[in-house]
Amino acid sequence: MAGFEITQLHADFGAKITGVDMAAPRSAELIAELHRAIDRYSFLWFPDQSFTDDLQLALTGDLGEPEPGHLPLGEEGKIEYFGTIGNVQPDGSTLGNDATRTKFLNGNNMWHSDSSFRDVPSFVSILCAYETPAEGGETLFVSTRAAYARMGPVQRAEVEPLVGIHDYTYSRSKVAEVAPSLSASLPPVRQRLVRRNPGTGEAGLFIGSHLREIEGWGYERSRPFLQGLIEDATAEPYIYPHCWQPGDLVIWDNRCLLHRGAGYDADRYRRYMRQTRVKGAGPTLEEAA
Ligand code: OGA
Ligand code: MN
Repeated sequence: MAGFEITQLHADFGAKITGVDMAAPRSAELIAELHRAIDRYSFLWFPDQSFTDDLQLALTGDLGEPEPGHLPLGEEGKIEYFGTIGNVQPDGSTLGNDATRTKFLNGNNMWHSDSSFRDVPSFVSILCAYETPAEGGETLFVSTRAAYARMGPVQRAEVEPLVGIHDYTYSRSKVAEVAPSLSASLPPVRQRLVRRNPGTGEAGLFIGSHLREIEGWGYERSRPFLQGLIEDATAEPYIYPHCWQPGDLVIWDNRCLLHRGAGYDADRYRRYMRQTRVKGAGPTLEEAA
């Protein structure tokens, strides 16, 4: 890819990309190249970048339609494109391990795909790291496209027609109380279990912590099956752990990756990363099978 120096990060996915200033205005050609790199590598890491929220929002808009955060939308009806990942507050102070918001963010320590609980889930998430803990705080990633590729024909035939019910209240209630207004703003949604990249046709599993059950199976039958899919997809050899450094810009494809936080000690360390997301192309059930 012209101008990009690429190092593959894991046999299944992931690229470290140097030789490009991602904060500078982007040509149509560079944007097209980013889309190709997303389709091919799923996870793009640009170290040593110099970002601000404004520059990040411009990049987000270049890749598609920025996705408003579900919390400000659900809780206050407000459009807000940024979410803070970490414990640093707008006034520079920090929240510790016992703060409600820290506990809420701990929900991110379960394997998930961002916004899989929305009728139009995220295409990519974009994270800019500003302050990172000296210890812990990695984010772990796996490819569900690779997980699908490892399946045999019988298992593929079994998962192909299934529809998953993704439910934010179900997943977040495990770590913190979900306010009734927020819960009401995010009713359960139906998603294809097997999604294909519209450009390349490659299939991946659309699973994760928000996926409560398989439509028509009921909860009891669904749980061991879904737990098995997650365990197979996230076994140790398939994980790429990203160790954040200030200046990291990372873009990942939520259509075919799962991620989770490894956790860190919020009483001891500061963590400040800003996240935006690009909205997906449409409801997954309308995607080509
Ligand atoms: C995210 C996320 C987990 C973490 O940024 O979407 O889930 O704490 N992060 O690293
Ligand atoms: Mn996440």
